[in-house]
Amino acid sequence: MKDLTNKKILFIICGGVSAYKSLETIRLFKKNNAEIKTILTKSAKEFVTPLSITSLSQGKVYDDLFNLENEMEMDHIALSRWADVIIVAPITANTLAKFSQGYSEDLASTVVLASNKQVFLVPAMNVRMWEHQSTKDNVKKLKNYGYKFIGPITGDMACGEYGEGKMSEPKVIFDKIYNFLSNQIKNKKIKVLVTAGPTNEYIDPVRFITNRSSGKQGYEIAKSLTKRGFDTTLISGPTNLNVEDDINLIKVETAQEMFLATQQSLPTDIAIFSAAVADFKVSKQDKDKIKKKVKMTLDLEENIDILNYISNHNSMRPKLVIGFAAETKNLDNNAISKLKNKNCDWIIANDVSKKNIGFNSDYNEVTIHFKDDTRKKEKISMRKKSEISEEIVDKIVSQIN
Ligand code: PMT
Repeated sequence: MKDLTNKKILFIICGGVSAYKSLETIRLFKKNNAEIKTILTKSAKEFVTPLSITSLSQGKVYDDLFNLENEMEMDHIALSRWADVIIVAPITANTLAKFSQGYSEDLASTVVLASNKQVFLVPAMNVRMWEHQSTKDNVKKLKNYGYKFIGPITGDMACGEYGEGKMSEPKVIFDKIYNFLSNQIKNKKIKVLVTAGPTNEYIDPVRFITNRSSGKQGYEIAKSLTKRGFDTTLISGPTNLNVEDDINLIKVETAQEMFLATQQSLPTDIAIFSAAVADFKVSKQDKDKIKKKVKMTLDLEENIDILNYISNHNSMRPKLVIGFAAETKNLDNNAISKLKNKNCDWIIANDVSKKNIGFNSDYNEVTIHFKDDTRKKEKISMRKKSEISEEIVDKIVSQIN
């Protein structure tokens, strides 16, 4: 038996002939001690009954309407927080379209939209529907948002046609989710530190030098790590971003504060330095607001290099140190120099000369270089920072495994 004691699974069942497979999937999870709650969409009730699901799952079944009794017992936000993982099986073309548009018109779409957990989508539909360009666009969008797909597979369909669109088998769904959950349990024991955002270096009490970093890339990495169960600390310079409570967030302003917070958060197993730490600080900060002058010169001095300090430290160095390199030219060469000079295990290079990627954009394009020179550089082409983060975390997971 694969033990899933204390693991909480929220099943969402949509209307479709394959809904019967969800019953078998629920049975497999229950057999392995998982705790299950289920939402049935309105059309799902045409295919499976709340009674059959309750008796299999021994857990609450919500129908897809908001009602006072359900909301009092556990509101839709609490329900999305309760789950360790959400599985939507089967998901129809219609629900895929709704999720990709961000609708929140019923309990299923509201819970998914409000969720901070990994959502797995298990499609089942006619081959033409699956191959339709609008479905393909919706799937692409949902993958960009970080949803994971299981299937569909190719085979004979209930409608008599043959092709891709058939729902994956319960055992396959169970194994995929089990792997995800057991990695989550393993990862809980692994501590990761992420730095993100800019730093402010004060000139006087009201003025500072900073840069265009929004923190988005680092925050997305921290979110992806947390979804996989890693014990994550995010040390952030000033940003407008928020995170859920499951990330230990430490807010700082200057490079010196970021350095102290980093030292205090160690030891960790992994450290990812995505912050755009100011390379210079003002040598002597004025106590009072500097009066207007015709000309003014700033005397700057080098700031502490946090990554360099930590990665060269005998006792503090995490086992896996990942730096970023923000470059405007000679991307590969400059990144490789930083990989060596700063004693990193990986360096993630990004081009910050363009407006649509890098600093303060939702998108990025990165190349990862490794200290291990038997490993070839790996490029992740332009996509959302959330998706880049998922890929980086995938690579971290396969390295530590
Ligand atoms: O925040 P976003 O708007 O989402 O943008 C993301 C990003 C472009 C800021 C991010 O992807 C990125 O490239 N971060 C590193 C920015 C940077 O300062 O790069 P660098 O090449 O100057 O520094 C190299 C490495 O040393 C980085 O890991 C940096 O965190 C670290 N460093 C640098 C200087 C310093 N004083 N201390 C450091 O720890």
